[in-house]
Amino acid sequence: MPALVPVLSKTDIEQKIIETASKISADYEGKELVLIGVLKGAFIFLADLVRSLVIPAEIDFIGVSSYGNTTSSSGSIQITKDLQNDLQGKHVLLVEDIVDSGLTLQHLVAYMRSKRAASVKICTLIDKAERRQVNLAVDYACFEVPEGFLVGYGLDYAEAHRGLPAIYHLKF
Ligand code: IMP
Ligand code: MG
Repeated sequence: MPALVPVLSKTDIEQKIIETASKISADYEGKELVLIGVLKGAFIFLADLVRSLVIPAEIDFIGVSSYGNTTSSSGSIQITKDLQNDLQGKHVLLVEDIVDSGLTLQHLVAYMRSKRAASVKICTLIDKAERRQVNLAVDYACFEVPEGFLVGYGLDYAEAHRGLPAIYHLKF
């Protein structure tokens, strides 16, 4: 059985989300904001983030799969659940759990632009910046974690551990 080593506590996460939400609230004041959660990993992060905003925001979700049950990106991204709302003229903030290679978000940013969003930015809970394979601007990153496979707080390994309230390093 792989071991679970604590990386970010519930309190670390809560505090950082409040900080990030206050930046987002200031930056998007008076703008038509839509938060787009990248399923499934970002569902808990998005739920906490939206409750810390002090400005109105629409919510939508997009489902992508690229990993199967492995721990590294295959580089081929498929949309498994499409958006429901029209994005034209809206300010899109993509809400992601982890940016790793950056391939998933590079693909999604292009997709949002093709829907004629007024702007497209990225908010991630965790940035694995050292692992980037493409040039991608991450506008809001709560935490930088250089390495390791992480689970909990929405993040899974082969669909397990999403319900843990904090984030752990899965040691194989
Ligand atoms: P990228 O396309 O390589 O940037 O992959 C990003 C996606 O891979 C994220 O949306 C995560 O769902 C998944 N991912 C990357 N690293 C981890 C991890 O440490 N734990 C769980 N999922 C991860
Ligand atoms: Mg994901």
